[in-house]
Amino acid sequence: MTTKFQLVCRKCKHRIDSFEEWFSHNQKCPKCGNNIVDTEYSTDKNKILELISKDAKPESLFHYFDFLPLNDKANIVTDGEGIAPIERWKFLEDFAKRKYNLSLQIYINRNDKSFATGTFKDKGGALAASVLKEAGIKEYVVASTGNTATAFAHYLAKAGISCSVFVPHDALPDSVAHISTYGQKLFRVKGDYAYTKKVAAEYAKKYKIQMTGGNLDPLRLEAKKTLLYEILRIIGRVPDVYIQALSGGTGPFAMEKAMKDIAGTGLVEKLPRFLLSQGDRCAPQAHAWEKAKKDKFPQHWETVYPIYENPVTLIPTIATGHPGLYPLMGPLVQKTGGEIFQIREESAVDIARLVAYERVIKIGPASAAGIAGLFESLKRGYFKDGESVLINMGEGAGRALSFMQETAYTVQDIHSVDDCLRFDRDALKAKVWEPFE
Ligand SMILES: Cc1ncc(COP(=O)(O)O)c(C=O)c1O
Ligand SMILES: [Zn+2]
Repeated sequence: MTTKFQLVCRKCKHRIDSFEEWFSHNQKCPKCGNNIVDTEYSTDKNKILELISKDAKPESLFHYFDFLPLNDKANIVTDGEGIAPIERWKFLEDFAKRKYNLSLQIYINRNDKSFATGTFKDKGGALAASVLKEAGIKEYVVASTGNTATAFAHYLAKAGISCSVFVPHDALPDSVAHISTYGQKLFRVKGDYAYTKKVAAEYAKKYKIQMTGGNLDPLRLEAKKTLLYEILRIIGRVPDVYIQALSGGTGPFAMEKAMKDIAGTGLVEKLPRFLLSQGDRCAPQAHAWEKAKKDKFPQHWETVYPIYENPVTLIPTIATGHPGLYPLMGPLVQKTGGEIFQIREESAVDIARLVAYERVIKIGPASAAGIAGLFESLKRGYFKDGESVLINMGEGAGRALSFMQETAYTVQDIHSVDDCLRFDRDALKAKVWEPFE
C-alpha cells in the first residue's frame, strides 16, 4: 500500500484508495455494492507508542493524525475536540464500596467539556468536515437523533459546507435551535428516526448529495476510536469494563476498530467488557439480548431483534428503534463477555441531580443514561471486586436545556423573608442520594 490509508470492502476485500473514489460510488464498493468498509493504514502501528506517551501534548483529535483517514494536515477543521478529560469519580467508588462492598476504580470520560457542542459527537463532526474539505465536497446530508446533527452542523459550517440536517419530530429543541443558529438547514421530520433516515436518503438521492453513512461510517468510526488511545495516554491501560448508553453503536464499534489498528503493539490484549445501557422506552437491543441470553444463544440468535416504530421516549437522543447493526453488535458484546440491558429513563433526573451535587457538573439525559448503566450493573452484579471501569459520558447539559430545567429542585417562590428558612447545602445530601440507597 502506497497511500496513507485505504477503504477495504468488508465483503469482497476490494480496496478503495480515496474518499473521492468512495464518494463517487455513492459510498458503496465499486466491485460488489456492499456499503461497509474498513479503513486500513500504512502507518507503522508502533507510532501509537509515541502518541500516547506521557510527554505528548495533544491539542485535538488530530494528534492521532497518523491513524486518521486524512492526507493533508492543511485540511484539518478543529475546535480542540477529542481530548476530553478522564476523571476518577470517588463518590461513585464510595457508593460501590458502601452498598455492594466492591472496590472499583471508576473513570469518567468528560465529553460534556468538548469545545464545539459539548458532546462526544464533536470528534466525528471534526473529522467529517476535514475529510469532506479534502475531497472537495461542498454539500452534505445528515440524519441524526440530535447530537451528531448538531456536531456536523457546527463543523461543516466552519468548513463552509452546506449541511442539510434531518431530525425526527421529537429531537430536543436545543439541538434544533443550535443547528439552525449555525445557518445550516434543518428539516424536522414528522416521523421516527428510521423514517427520518429514509426521507434524508431520498433527499440525498434527489439532489445527488453525499449523506452520513450508518454507525460504521468511517468518518464517525475513525474519529470515535481515538477514545481508546486517549484512555491509554491518560490512564495507561485499558479498563476492565466499558460503559456507554447505546443507540446505534458507533462508540462500541469504534473501540473494537481502535484495538484492531494497534494490534501487535502489546498495548491492548483484549477489549474491555462492554456493558451497554438502553433507555427502557426504546430498548430493542436490550430486549433482543435478554431473549437470546434466556434461550442460551441459539444458532442465528444475533439476527433476531425487535423493531420499535415511533418510540415515545424521554431520551430521544439515544432512541434507535430499528437497530440494523444488532447482528454485529450482539456478537461483539458477547465476545467481550459483556451485556446489553435497559435502564429506567425516569431515573435520569435523579442521576443528573446527584452528579450536579457531588461534582458540580451539569450533564444531559443521554449521559445520565450512561451513568444509570453503572448503577444498574451494580444491581445486577456485573462487576468483580477490584475492577476498573470507564464510563463514556457523552454529553453536557447544553444539549438539553429543558432537561436541566427539570433537574432544578430547590426553587421556592416567596413573598417576604418570613417565607425563607435558613439554607444548608449539606442537608440536601441525603435527599439527592435517597433514590440510590
Ligand atoms: C450523548 C450520547 N450518548 C450515547 C449515544 C449513543 O451512541 P452510539 O450508540 O452510536 O455509540 C449518543 C448517540 O446519539 C449520544 O449522543
Ligand atoms: Zn466489495
